Amino acid sequence: MDATISGSSPTSRDPVIITIDGPAGTGKSSVAHRLASRLGLDFLDTGAMYRAAALIALETGIDPDQGEALAAAISDMGVRFDWQSDPPRLMLDDRDVSARIRDLDVSGIVSIVAAQSPVRSVLVERQRDIAEAHPRLVTEGRDQGSVVFPDAAVRFFLDASIEVRAQRRIKQLASAGQTIDEHEIRSDIESRDRLDTSRDDAPLIKPEGAIVIDSSNKSLPEVVEEMERIVRDRLPDAEFTS
Ligand code: DC
Repeated sequence: MDATISGSSPTSRDPVIITIDGPAGTGKSSVAHRLASRLGLDFLDTGAMYRAAALIALETGIDPDQGEALAAAISDMGVRFDWQSDPPRLMLDDRDVSARIRDLDVSGIVSIVAAQSPVRSVLVERQRDIAEAHPRLVTEGRDQGSVVFPDAAVRFFLDASIEVRAQRRIKQLASAGQTIDEHEIRSDIESRDRLDTSRDDAPLIKPEGAIVIDSSNKSLPEVVEEMERIVRDRLPDAEFTS
């Protein structure tokens, strides 16, 4: 697909893809959503798609490491977004599972599911289809700048210390009314980091040429502002919301 631009400055309402990759708990989703709003672009949360795949595993009883069977189930069920909402709601067929996919049982197996190549193939293809339909996009995940959209106009890698990431996740779950065990959260993040960075297919890496931002000591608005400034500097001819 050719929804990305490399080497030249986009003009007017040309396609423009901005990727944000990084480990769990760096605030990627919030940052990506806000950046997209500021620039007038659409927002894609690819982690939600892997979480939906994990939910499918839980609901169908397919083992999380049965990649082929899971990929077939994903194709059958239809993982899609409702683009009428902002941020887009994650739908499994016609069921809104946006909240359900954040539960700990889903988080507990999602890295195993995301390590299955057949699952990644189906979801990466779907992400590229989404970019065809929504060619002005901020997309976040683990492999967006490295594998899915390597020619994206601007690629970011968002990082933060493990302590800060654990505290953020705890706050997030608490505000969603969930019971929290601090030790469990930290080891969940650590084990997901390990699995995400060590898998064979599309491991979490800093994409070559990506701009690294450490959000440990920065607020969400500060990170968004920094990224917005970088994007506007790098793409002076692109037509963004002013
Ligand atoms: O960002 P998140 O915590 O919602 O991601 C859920 C899981 O999906 C996490 O284990 C990493 C994985 N993931 C991935 O492998 N590739 C992506 N593009 C996005 C997420």
